[in-house]
Amino acid sequence: MVVTPSDVRSSGDASPGPVRRVGVLTGGGDAPGLNAAICGLGRRLLAAEIELVGFRDGWRGLIDDDTCSLADVDFQRLHVKDGTLLGSSGDNPYFEPDQDVPKVLDCLKHHAIDALVAIGGDGTLSAADRLHRDHGVRVVGVPKTIDNDLAATDFTFGFFSAVEVATRAMDDLRSTAESHSRVMVVECMGRHAGWITAYAGVAAGAEGILVPERPGEIEELCENLAGLRAAGARSAIVAVAEGVRLYEDGKCLSPDGKDRFGEYEIGGAAATVAECIRRRLGWDARHLVLGHLQRAPQPLAFDRLFALRLGARAARLVLERQFGRMAAMQNGEIVDVPLGAAVRERKTLPSHFLDRYGSFFLPI
Ligand code: F6P
Repeated sequence: MVVTPSDVRSSGDASPGPVRRVGVLTGGGDAPGLNAAICGLGRRLLAAEIELVGFRDGWRGLIDDDTCSLADVDFQRLHVKDGTLLGSSGDNPYFEPDQDVPKVLDCLKHHAIDALVAIGGDGTLSAADRLHRDHGVRVVGVPKTIDNDLAATDFTFGFFSAVEVATRAMDDLRSTAESHSRVMVVECMGRHAGWITAYAGVAAGAEGILVPERPGEIEELCENLAGLRAAGARSAIVAVAEGVRLYEDGKCLSPDGKDRFGEYEIGGAAATVAECIRRRLGWDARHLVLGHLQRAPQPLAFDRLFALRLGARAARLVLERQFGRMAAMQNGEIVDVPLGAAVRERKTLPSHFLDRYGSFFLPI
């Protein structure tokens, strides 16, 4: 789906009265660059003499009326820091809407919040979009997720920092794999989309890449690895997304259970692949789950600047009273799009990406 910045700006707010107090929250899994987004927002708003109020731990802060002062924050250097000074959580007022949506509305009123900036992924931004549509809450969104699976933006901040962690890990594992003549199977985050796995796998020259966008066929992978070994390879790296569905001889090896959103439970993908390689090829294979290390680094310079710019654009949207919109990157430019466009569908690896790097994904 392509959403252009020239989309109808039906969400402009013509109601009178200046914006004096703006709330901000960071929701969902954290991502390198969250503080930079807060920084870009804060610097622009403070310059316009608008007060910024932080809500702790994502939507939980508005449900429980838990604010934090940003008065002592050093906005000169905040963008350098990893994590989020506001804290984060996956809580969402629409899990129990009858009970929690009124609490959010009361909280906004109680603190005289004129506009709310929600920095988050699809869960956080979906709630912001619904509050805007159903209750006229003046929201602006900033897209964040290391998974890079939000639509309507080229990238989300944090993604490239996570890719760097995964790439370095695969680079570093190569020498021990060579020393011991082993296959190292490296599991990257990505429940629904294989962006981190694909980018890091290609960057590190992995011999096999398994992503949720394609069924992970064990026979095909093992045939490739056997061919490489027969040609003299001592080692191989296999990059596996945590959300890939694995199949061996037509049987699904991945967990059957579903979570409360009706999505497959995940867990153990890399361990399963390593076990299959050992069993089928007799080639020693070890697995490593990178897990939350991918969310933990200091943001790369790119993510710092990217998040600063998105935060600043969100401030501009607030100042221009363009609510129900989200800052985004399209064709390398910072633009803004309707919030709904970002949360309507999930952005997965497109077939042209898989084709372009086909030799990494398909039999060689
Ligand atoms: O932010 C998304 C994500 O990184 C997924 O890729 C991963 O499955 C999930 O977060 C893990 O989140 P947590 O363990 O913190 O709930």
